[in-house]
Amino acid sequence: MAEDQQPEAVVVIKVVDNGPYQVKGPVRVVDHDNNVVDLGPGRTRLLCRCGKSNKKPFCDGSHARTGFQASERPTSDTGT
Ligand code: FES
Repeated sequence: MAEDQQPEAVVVIKVVDNGPYQVKGPVRVVDHDNNVVDLGPGRTRLLCRCGKSNKKPFCDGSHARTGFQASERPTSDTGT
């Protein structure tokens, strides 16, 4: 990498057990209506994984009220 180049930021997406995906910025989230949410470095948002949120794509806590269970684990490394 040349000295004048900045290293690419790493977007961190953490899977919360039986809950949402936690996305940590810097990242841009664009919803289905093209609304943009920019997360600065270190800022986080939760993305719905259960499908029950009334604020999709964001989590509104419905996963807890509905007893969302996502205990399945991959059987092998599916990374590319
Ligand atoms: S994961 Fe929280 S509302 Fe869906």
